[in-house]
Amino acid sequence: MGNTLVIKGLNGEKRLRGTVNITGAKNAALKVIAATVLFKDTVKLENIPEIDDVFRMLELLKEMGAEVSHPRLGSYTIAVPKKLSTELPFEIAKRMRASIVVTGPVLARFGKVSFPHPGGCLIGSRPVDLFIEGFEKMGAKVVLEDNIYTVTTKDGLRGTEFFLKNQSVTVTETFMMAGVCARGTTVIKNAAMEPEIEDLAHFLISCGAKISGAGTPIITIKGGKLLSAAGRTYKTMPDRIDAGSFLILGALAAKELHITNCNPLHLEAVIESLRSAGVTIETKKTEIIVRSPATLHSVDIKTHEYPGFPTDLQAPMTVFLTQADGESMVFETIFEGRLNFTEALSAMGAQITMMDPHRVLVRGKSALRGRKLKSPDLRAGLAFVIAAIVAKGESVIHNVDTTIDRGYEDVDNRLRAIGVSVERIEQSE
Ligand code: EPZ
Repeated sequence: MGNTLVIKGLNGEKRLRGTVNITGAKNAALKVIAATVLFKDTVKLENIPEIDDVFRMLELLKEMGAEVSHPRLGSYTIAVPKKLSTELPFEIAKRMRASIVVTGPVLARFGKVSFPHPGGCLIGSRPVDLFIEGFEKMGAKVVLEDNIYTVTTKDGLRGTEFFLKNQSVTVTETFMMAGVCARGTTVIKNAAMEPEIEDLAHFLISCGAKISGAGTPIITIKGGKLLSAAGRTYKTMPDRIDAGSFLILGALAAKELHITNCNPLHLEAVIESLRSAGVTIETKKTEIIVRSPATLHSVDIKTHEYPGFPTDLQAPMTVFLTQADGESMVFETIFEGRLNFTEALSAMGAQITMMDPHRVLVRGKSALRGRKLKSPDLRAGLAFVIAAIVAKGESVIHNVDTTIDRGYEDVDNRLRAIGVSVERIEQSE
């Protein structure tokens, strides 16, 4: 499978058409895979996206001793043994931020866990202070040595109440899962409210967990015992970021694009922004139909925890704004490194001024020219794909295998099916 995409730009033409099928949500699937540590029996998972981060998370659990089977595309079963290693494999955990959610269930069930300071995208510092503080508040001891955290608890975690100074999604999920096996009640205040958190909670509740408030700022978990799937199957919710990425592409370059197997209710902030920019968007229960208008108007964007504008769609939206008439301010409130990709957009011809690490001013409409690009992370990489499709001429995007393929299943075939001229090749930078 090649590491580079070669894209011939439409030079502003709006002729993409057809149907894009949305996959299961990466940021839901990764957490349910981690949650299988809380189960005393085998868990069946469906609609799991076939993406590199999922393969890594499964590999991580397998290396710790879990039994994983893959009966068909999108389906997995996971059985965690009574004796699971409590060490997250360094090489895998280092490269994927999401691995940190495994720490909660492992510590809660086995009384010990060790993990490296996790890696992930270059979008900003990814601190772990809230994890460490949370484990200590639940009665665990934390030691850091050679960049490895070792967390132990002699007589199990005890439920506690804590207030998150930042509404971190993975912190919320980690402690919601830890609370399931802790003694007593755990209350997470200022919890993140992303749909993936609610989705995880619903499945755990259906298997016996006592969780209330998921999807609100206060989540209460009454802990005490392992869960049992008892033959139940978890079906991954649709990936709202996958859907939103194709929606923004369609808003720029589609005659008529049907985005199916999605949940428009999870994209209200994005749909609202695009409609105010003049885009025609029709929504049905599990489908969005988008048509790109002749002219696009500027609109200010401010990323915010759910249900605000998702930071994971800020990069694709910033590309959109380069094609809108007028000035748009993009305010990235969550990650301080998530606007660095705009330098490459400027080199393609966009008029973007960085006001500070959290804010750029975009002046449109500007003609983009295709060029050599290097995908810096998953979401900026997809933004480069969108820019290349809108641009005049050919673009070559490197590092697709270590960034875009982490979170977008079969991206080149899905793009080709709606009229994008894209080829995947193997090419060193
Ligand atoms: C999740 O990251 C997603 N990842 C991210 O998606 C997404 O961008 C983010 O939520 C926001 O929606 C997964 O679900 C695997 P954080 P998360 O690092 O929750 C602060 C993608 O492209 N913080 O917790 O892990 C931190 O500084 C990825 O799919 C602390 O202060 O995000 C930031 O301000 C990229 N202390 C905020 O929380 C901590 O201990 C969220 O950052 C941890 C976090």
